[in-house]
Amino acid sequence: MDRIRIIGGERLEGSIPVSGAKNATLPLMIASLLTSDTLTLKNVPHLADVNLLSRILGNHGVDMAIAGKRSGQRQGEGDTMHLNARTIADTTAPYEMVSRMRASFWVLGPILARCREARISLPGGCAIGTRPVDLHLEGLAKLGAQVDLEDGYVLARAPKGLIGGRVDFSKVSVGATHNILMAATLAKGETVIENAAREPEVGDVATCLTKMGAKIDGIGTSTLTIQGVDELEGAVHTVLPDRIETGTYAMAVAATGGDVLLDNARPDLLEAALEVLRQAGVEISETNRGLRVVRDGPGLAPIDVETEPFPGFPTDLQAQLMALMALAGGRSRIRETIFENRFMHVQELVRLGADIALEGDTAFVTGVQGLRGAQVMATDLRASVSLVIAGLTAQGETIINRVYHLDRGFERIEEKLGACGARIERLAA
Ligand code: EPU
Repeated sequence: MDRIRIIGGERLEGSIPVSGAKNATLPLMIASLLTSDTLTLKNVPHLADVNLLSRILGNHGVDMAIAGKRSGQRQGEGDTMHLNARTIADTTAPYEMVSRMRASFWVLGPILARCREARISLPGGCAIGTRPVDLHLEGLAKLGAQVDLEDGYVLARAPKGLIGGRVDFSKVSVGATHNILMAATLAKGETVIENAAREPEVGDVATCLTKMGAKIDGIGTSTLTIQGVDELEGAVHTVLPDRIETGTYAMAVAATGGDVLLDNARPDLLEAALEVLRQAGVEISETNRGLRVVRDGPGLAPIDVETEPFPGFPTDLQAQLMALMALAGGRSRIRETIFENRFMHVQELVRLGADIALEGDTAFVTGVQGLRGAQVMATDLRASVSLVIAGLTAQGETIINRVYHLDRGFERIEEKLGACGARIERLAA
């Protein structure tokens, strides 16, 4: 496995192109299962998760082609991907696939809606928590599906097709919202989803589905109303910029000090996180190209934050914020309310010299003068990148093991940071 080597202490100066959002790209690719026409996605990021989902969708019979670079394409702009699911060759998603990427479980709704049956492996737990799928299954049952669990598989059937219904989620779930929304587009009649996730990636998928001919009201709100149609058609859609990548690089600049333009960033997608950074003393301004992040001089102020569903502070930036607050002048409180076990980065940050005490779902971070390089290991994507941020500020050498987690969700991270003056390199296995 590759490793990342960082020599800390350099300021970041320059510009970083923000890629298309991973967490929009994955469900958008899955939406291709809903039509026999071609769905074209632009600004698709180069990520291991995208490659893995391509293989999984290929197994279901989706043909995929990536167009070559176009003249005039902006630096950092993603690929154009054509997906065509003329026939669904296989309605089963096996354990070997779903266990490698949870989001592949979201093929359940589209395959069930289109083929009237689906057999999808239960995804199982992962490093950040147990992550059940009860909300997905209850939602599909409300649309008239018969749902059974058999040998670790979800067997969902709707021999006469799905029928619109009322789905009131007891908890906000991004994945369950994607799953039910996609299924409802092809159900007979009206579906109302209450307490839907309002994450911008859900809105991006709903917008794309609308281009494909779906009838959806309430995009961007917690109530989605869908009038089912007989079939969807092809469309062309550009993936929105990655707000978590944006927030991550903003926090990296805040940690090292510097002045960086986050090219193509959309500040409206991460207002809560930007507000927290401003409270900590980071200067953030909007430009016509994106976001400029500046921090000079005095230290960072501590903060008090809880993760929340959108539009609150995102759980996917919690680890990165903790790395930053390790250097603040005082004691911060960071409470994780979305996942019960998303603190695997704490012990690794402590190896780098951070002072963090965990009490249940809350981390108390007492800022230290500086971090020191060490060997660390990451257990999930966002935890890994928090170690990169810490390593960029640490004195001496930091080696991050198990880099494959980073490659799942951050495109060319060492190139993007290296271009701004960071001393970071990949050590091939
Ligand atoms: N939950 C249930 N039952 C369900 C579904 C979810 O109890 O049926 C719980 C989960 O256990 C969790 C909470 O609801 O406690 C929220 O989970 P959600 O379903 O919203 O998460 P997800 O859809 O599996 C997506 C992102 C995650 C991100 C979360 C929360 C993608 C591919 N994944 O996961 O992103 O943390 O929403 O915003 O979009 C990442 O990119 O690193 C990542 C983990």
